[in-house]
Amino acid sequence: MTFVSVALTVAHAVAHAVAHAVAHAEVIAVGSAMVQDAVMTAPAIPSRPTAVVTGASSGIGAATARRLAAEGFDVIAAARRTDQLDAVVADIAADGGTAQAVRCDVTSDESVAQLAAAVPGPLTLLVNNAGGALGLDPVETGSIDEWRWMYEVNVLGTVRVTQALLPALERSGAGTVVVVSSTAGLIVYEGGGGYTAAKHGQTAVAETLRLELCGRPVRVIEIDPGMVKTDEFSLHRFRGDAARAAAVYEGVREPLVAEDVADCIAWCATRPHHVNVDRLVVRPLAQAAQHKVHRG
Ligand SMILES: NC(=O)c1ccc[n+]([C@@H]2O[C@H](COP(=O)([O-])OP(=O)(O)OC[C@H]3O[C@@H](n4cnc5c(N)ncnc54)[C@H](OP(=O)(O)O)[C@@H]3O)[C@@H](O)[C@H]2O)c1
Repeated sequence: MTFVSVALTVAHAVAHAVAHAVAHAEVIAVGSAMVQDAVMTAPAIPSRPTAVVTGASSGIGAATARRLAAEGFDVIAAARRTDQLDAVVADIAADGGTAQAVRCDVTSDESVAQLAAAVPGPLTLLVNNAGGALGLDPVETGSIDEWRWMYEVNVLGTVRVTQALLPALERSGAGTVVVVSSTAGLIVYEGGGGYTAAKHGQTAVAETLRLELCGRPVRVIEIDPGMVKTDEFSLHRFRGDAARAAAVYEGVREPLVAEDVADCIAWCATRPHHVNVDRLVVRPLAQAAQHKVHRG
């Protein structure tokens, strides 16, 4: 049984006991003001915790949505491609979990406001995962449009969604914001200027937010994966060039997969709430550093 499901089982047991006691009191002392007060003030039976995952239509986001549902969260899976979101939600339902798909473009104020409106009550967990890279050109010749896209999605998308959902996170009394940045947010590499600038920006947002929220019941966790072999990340980066995308992982024994990162996110998010994993850096064994990859 997972940490969350143990906590939920205990919470439900306590809530049911309270509800039972209140119902019993009603039977034995109907009309008494004391019982009426008890009924009025009895806590509602707590529902399952809710998690929002952005970029849940593929890769790390989809794996995280599935994993969090298995951990006992009601998952709101957000991204632009609803057909892929629907498939993730169907998988979760088939495994006995609960999830709903919400179409959301993190670069749009209106779309993010609709996501916030879809959150039914207090929010326990927000995973800011939507993001990605475009191109591998030097700074000298990099496309301004590609740089803009990377900044819009990775940095401003994280800020926009976090701003919209912070009130619901705070209402939970024990909220968690996860920011999926990257080892590209900690170090630079040639050709990576646009992506490393954006991921450094996203990392700066996570660090700043943690300082600003100190004393309030919302913790901030940054996850920095190294090389993760997902179906779309490199394909998207190289605008559909499958050979170039495959070359990224060529000869690398066991690159990380989406489920490895989802495992890290779930572990951090299910620690007791006073435990704040500030930053978790995770790479495949074959990647000792950004530039040091064993192939062959
Ligand atoms: N793969 C790696 O090696 C690696 C390493 C370190 C960090 N990361 C980070 O991990 C995250 C997930 O990467 P991944 O490997 O899982 O890549 P992926 O499969 O390409 O996933 C990217 C996700 O972001 C969503 N997205 C893109 N633009 C969006 C927008 N405007 N609004 C809402 N959602 C948007 C996409 O969904 P839609 O297109 O349906 O909107 C998709 O679900 C990214 O932030 C990436 O930078 C990846």
